[in-house]
Amino acid sequence: MLNNNNTKKRILTGDRPTGPLHLGHYVGSLVNRVRLQDEYNCFFIIADYQFLTDHLHDTILVEEYINEIILDWLSVGMDPRKSTFFIQSQVPEIAELTVIFSMLATVARLQRNPTVKDEFKASGLRAISYGFLGYPVSQAADILVVRSHLVPVGDDNLPHVEQTREIARTFNSTFSEVFPIPEPLVGKVSRLPGLDGQKMAKSRGNAIYLKDTPEEVKRKVSIAITDPARIKATDIGHPDLCSVFKYYLAFVINEAPTVEQNCRKGKIGCVACKNYLSDKVNIFLEPIREKRNYYGHKPRFISEILAEGIKRTGIEAKETMRLVHEAMHYDYKKLLI
Ligand code: TRP
Repeated sequence: MLNNNNTKKRILTGDRPTGPLHLGHYVGSLVNRVRLQDEYNCFFIIADYQFLTDHLHDTILVEEYINEIILDWLSVGMDPRKSTFFIQSQVPEIAELTVIFSMLATVARLQRNPTVKDEFKASGLRAISYGFLGYPVSQAADILVVRSHLVPVGDDNLPHVEQTREIARTFNSTFSEVFPIPEPLVGKVSRLPGLDGQKMAKSRGNAIYLKDTPEEVKRKVSIAITDPARIKATDIGHPDLCSVFKYYLAFVINEAPTVEQNCRKGKIGCVACKNYLSDKVNIFLEPIREKRNYYGHKPRFISEILAEGIKRTGIEAKETMRLVHEAMHYDYKKLLI
């Protein structure tokens, strides 16, 4: 470890390995993670059990998806020398803690979680499993197994952090003060829409992935939906109704006010505006692609990072379980030697 990680406050956050990460992930959480790595002791989880909620039939893909996420993390500058990367299923204490926490969350409370409701609807499943309904409890175990203080998340995960705080409070008041009450931290830029103005989704093909080629970026931006009222380049535009403009606000901030004015006056057409945006996004993505390509040829390095991260998380997790069992009188000092 490079520095005195033990005296720093801890962060836990991460991703489900459902596929490669896109620009929405970048502005919503990845930048934050990179920024926070020096100040905090960061734990980054790949939630492969949480993947099962709505991907039960895709487990053959999970290993490759995990690899993609690690490459995305490394390519944006998340740094395994400063932070800990690990896979949820490889730290069995998380599953143990989930069993205990499941006694501290009511079914009614879980049924009210708006994100679980939305995800269930989007999944197309006919009935919700016990594990899908209860995954916020397992996410609370992800967060609290390292006794995390801060949880950087997108706004859709705020209900889960709220539930985690309730579980931590309930545990502490029922047994004794083992857990900090973790604070959420939401990214500065509000959610980036897909290029069609809808929520980004793999199935809609409306997201730009960090690993997209320059040609893919150009193609996706070229078919993005702009102000529908604008037919001719000289028509007056409404940047507030345009999904492309949202990308200017996130990636070409300095020039966004000029583009906005020119659009409102009908001085710049959508085609030119899109071409300029693709160029800018490609300039932004170039160093990320380079790093991704570099680490793509280093599978051994990735295995080593994961082994080290799983080990480090395991040490924290064992200490947490010791404290938890002691607080609950489950340390059985007399019965067991
Ligand atoms: N639910 C998060 C997502 O879908 C992923 C996740 C799993 C997570 N465990 C976590 C995020 C713990 C923050 C903390 O993006």
